[in-house]
Amino acid sequence: MIISIKPWLELEQKPDLTQSLMRVGESFAGLELSSDAELDEFRMSYRSYGPSASNNGLEQGKRMEFYHQPIMSAEILMAMAPVRGKQIFDGTLGGGGHSELLLSEGAHVIGCDQDGDALKHAKARLESYGDQFLTVRGNFESMDSLLARVGVEEVDGILLDLGVSSKQLDNPERGFSFRFDGPLDMRMDDRAEFSARDLVNDWSVDEMTRIFREYGEERHAFRAAKAIEKAREKGAINRTSELVDIVSAVIPKVSKKNPATRVFQAIRIAVNRELEVLENTLEKSINHLAPGGVLSIITFHSLEDRIVKHFMRRRSTPFLDRPEWPEPRENPEYCLQLPHRRAIVPSKEEVESNPRARSAKLRVAVKL
Ligand SMILES: C[S@@+](CC[C@H](N)C(=O)[O-])C[C@H]1O[C@@H](n2cnc3c(N)ncnc32)[C@H](O)[C@@H]1O
Repeated sequence: MIISIKPWLELEQKPDLTQSLMRVGESFAGLELSSDAELDEFRMSYRSYGPSASNNGLEQGKRMEFYHQPIMSAEILMAMAPVRGKQIFDGTLGGGGHSELLLSEGAHVIGCDQDGDALKHAKARLESYGDQFLTVRGNFESMDSLLARVGVEEVDGILLDLGVSSKQLDNPERGFSFRFDGPLDMRMDDRAEFSARDLVNDWSVDEMTRIFREYGEERHAFRAAKAIEKAREKGAINRTSELVDIVSAVIPKVSKKNPATRVFQAIRIAVNRELEVLENTLEKSINHLAPGGVLSIITFHSLEDRIVKHFMRRRSTPFLDRPEWPEPRENPEYCLQLPHRRAIVPSKEEVESNPRARSAKLRVAVKL
């Protein structure tokens, strides 16, 4: 099968990178799988010129102030090949790190975030890109209406760098972290009605046990839920530090990790409906990718990665077979090609310099 891919447009600067991008582009177009060796070679050529900041007039020193260093930059560049003329939907704009990377290579970017504060900062950061950069506020789950709002139907790439940003995590007022005292909030979108405080004070023991187990993979889920139920009999639980004390008293500390880590992760996932939103979005993303368009998703825990992996496998299998069928049948859902079958993980160097990258996994699919 031949898939059409948008013609590679010339990139005047950074000839090494251009060649690498074209090579990767060709391998996508030819449906060859890109090998680990190719990936390493690309990482090397990327490292030798570094993240581009040349187009937007920001000096290097100023870049360092920004709160989010984009994760797996080389790998994202390799996957998205963001040459001029391409249009990319960055569904998780955050600090604008990835968007800047894509913009500086010449692509047009539609940056989306549900967090008004993130959007404001990224907008100011990337202002110098003018019309090349558009922003929309909302949940990427509503990709249909968000793209319609800017008059776009199909894009050449969709990027999702899932989870919360370090800025959100490090702001005590957002209530995401067990490391600081703050209001029990955890909403990525402050317009949403449901917060961590509602969950902790209103949900039944059964409901809490389920999410602590499913979303936090917490072995002591029931104990933690019972402890919360008992504590709230004395009055509402309003602060992150109260929740930390309650669950830490019943979950044994077995490693360096704070015993409340998994409970906090579970509550955050539930408050923001993260897994459900991801499932819905994967299906929708296919409708908005042009043929040859690339879907790149960075996940940070196994629950998310499993969803992405199963979706990509299901949609990239041309034929289905079952013992009761006389012969394999065409898969009606077949519409993706996986240039790299396994998840791509960050280089050792990146993990050393940015511990947050440790659990990151990138999966890439190309629309047929
Ligand atoms: C890990 S950060 C992204 C960082 C960004 N890639 C960068 O380089 O600066 C994730 C961002 O995505 C946003 N986000 C997470 N889930 C979202 C969703 N379903 N819809 C819209 N934004 C979302 C969060 O508010 C956060 O700002």
